[in-house]
Amino acid sequence: MSARRLGLAVVVVLAVGYFPLAFTYSWQFFDTGAPRLQDALQSSAVSHDFAHGHGSVVALRAEDYRSHRGVMLVHTSAGALALALATLQFSARLRHRPGVHRWVGRTYLLLMGTSMAAAYAFLVAAPQIDHFGGTAFDLQLWVLAGSTVASAVLALVAVRRGDLVSHRAWIGMNIAFMLTAPLLRVLWVGLGRLDHGIELMVALDVGASTLGVVAPAAGALALLLSLDARRTSPVVPHARWQYAGALLVSLAGSAWLAVRFAPLPDEVPGASLWVGHLLPVTGFVLVLLAGALRAAAADRGVAEARWRTLLWGAALATPSAALTTVLATPVHGTVDGFLAGTMVGASGPIVLAFALVVRAAAGSVGAAGAVGAVGAVGAVGAGGGAVAGCDRR
Ligand code: HEM
Repeated sequence: MSARRLGLAVVVVLAVGYFPLAFTYSWQFFDTGAPRLQDALQSSAVSHDFAHGHGSVVALRAEDYRSHRGVMLVHTSAGALALALATLQFSARLRHRPGVHRWVGRTYLLLMGTSMAAAYAFLVAAPQIDHFGGTAFDLQLWVLAGSTVASAVLALVAVRRGDLVSHRAWIGMNIAFMLTAPLLRVLWVGLGRLDHGIELMVALDVGASTLGVVAPAAGALALLLSLDARRTSPVVPHARWQYAGALLVSLAGSAWLAVRFAPLPDEVPGASLWVGHLLPVTGFVLVLLAGALRAAAADRGVAEARWRTLLWGAALATPSAALTTVLATPVHGTVDGFLAGTMVGASGPIVLAFALVVRAAAGSVGAAGAVGAVGAVGAVGAGGGAVAGCDRR
């Protein structure tokens, strides 16, 4: 199975699998007899105490969700519907029906926008979670909602300009952000199973930090794998020095973040540093390095430059996280200041590098002419044909 097909299968399983849990989540706040699928699943997958006990979302949040149940109902149902609908856009059959693609796309944007507006309404109206990592997580949700809306706006602006490369890239990033909802639940349940003593809220904070790297990384990898990489052209002579430089920057950033972590109290588990940041970022750096080396060995200069640009983004993610811990600590305190760094500090350089790659790829396709552009987009596979149908006509 190719990486692209595997990625697509993961997206469909997450979006469709999470649908019944998210769609029904808020019903309990209107009718106490309504199903509580997510809580029941967490109880059976980990333990009743993990799902309902001290430090669980139920114990910390049920009353706030009940007080704002209208807003939560809109957020959870529109979000669940939006994600399920997004999977239709990958269907090979619908790819040949541009009209359907456009209407599904418009409905997705409306649902996604509604869900994010409700998320903002909840964040404004409800108090922050008064528990481990609560204020850091709140900050991450503000940033995530903004990034999700911004990526959708960029995708919409691009398709209105007929720029299909940027459209596909930004909508891919948007779906990666939306998928943080099911992925976070998978991660907190996984951590709960691995460490029986961990509270749900602590597992949530570790998972939210992991996704601060994994979500933009997934959007970036989806772009790299979808762009045409076959053209040969010279690789810049200093490329190998840049690989070494990027690795050094990443290592120095890791040391800095570890120094920031060292004085934290024991209540902050080592997983916050390792699982929450260092392992995912190192994995991403190594994948990008391997992609750059492979492209360089095949004399594919354009493709190599894309992998190298993102390698710099990934390498700068850790220093950026460490710097954010420094800036956030006076505002959020030692523990939440550190967690704010890992939750929101890493994504900036990755998304910036992603934007540079998108701009270069769209520019080179644009230069090749409109006819060539549609051909190139069509050639890159899975989503290509689908989006080729979204140009204005
Ligand atoms: C990606 C952008 C998203 C943002 C910024 C966001 C924001 C929020 C916020 C602010 C809350 C309340 C958290 C708290 O207790 O403080 C929440 C909870 C929730 N959200 Fe989202 N959300 C997003 C995506 C989604 C999607 C796509 C779905 C459904 C597929 C979803 C389903 C839920 C559910 C079910 C809850 C209840 C909490 C729980 O699961 O235990 N969210 N979200």
